[in-house]
Amino acid sequence: MDGVQLYTRSAGEGLPVVLLHAFPMSSAMWLAQREGLSSVCKVITPDLRGFGGSVLGEDDPSLDVMADDVARLLDHEGVDRAVVGGLSMGGYVTMAMCRRHPDRLRGVILADTKAGADPEAARSNRERIAAAVLEEGTSVLLEEVLPGLVGQTTAQRRAMVFGRVRGLVQAAPPTAVAWAQRAMAGRPDSFDTLRALKTPVLVIVGEEDEITSPADAGAMAEAVPDGRLVVIEKAGHLSAIEQPEAFNRAVSGFVAELAGGIGESPSRG
Ligand code: MLT
Repeated sequence: MDGVQLYTRSAGEGLPVVLLHAFPMSSAMWLAQREGLSSVCKVITPDLRGFGGSVLGEDDPSLDVMADDVARLLDHEGVDRAVVGGLSMGGYVTMAMCRRHPDRLRGVILADTKAGADPEAARSNRERIAAAVLEEGTSVLLEEVLPGLVGQTTAQRRAMVFGRVRGLVQAAPPTAVAWAQRAMAGRPDSFDTLRALKTPVLVIVGEEDEITSPADAGAMAEAVPDGRLVVIEKAGHLSAIEQPEAFNRAVSGFVAELAGGIGESPSRG
């Protein structure tokens, strides 16, 4: 496969766990996971194409292209099978991995994401935002996307966390934002893919997530043959940033379970 080589930050040793970031962020969002999980696994956090240190490349917008980037990253790292997980857009890419590269998966983590395709109104809204960002820069993201990214607890009581999220959104390059919006608009429904999945799946959701709700998370956990669901209190859409300790506990329990070790396992969904 030719194509973009993703810029990646890694930490730790052991079972490889790839974490794919949300829109419109970068691998910087996984700071607390690189720090908190590096004692239990090898955390591999790439910048998806166009974001952070990764170039955008010439391909047409597509989640399949993003999934192939991740498969190529595994080749580059010498990893045959990894736990692959993602938050929101990262979850869409993970589901594209489940479709295109199921043999590379040791386990799957779907955080604050959903398996359904976009309805027509959401697709046109993405095109509107893509056009606005290319024309006027990222101010539209700060006005329209940023407020929904965190839960009410973070918005009301955690100004430092909200400020960090704002900084991540502001840093997003307009060309990558437009490309990713168009890629997400074209994604298919993934429920059949989830039903056919042969690997264990951990679904995580912030209880205050208004973009991809606890009901969306429950539907994914029920669709997969081997699923567990963890709901994180006082967190919204960016549960990994808003409540990193609870998020990391869920992931380390899953990693321990996969490795056959004794760990606090998330309950079965
Ligand atoms: C994200 O957090 O990645 C976005 O909310 C995904 C989306 O726009 O559907």
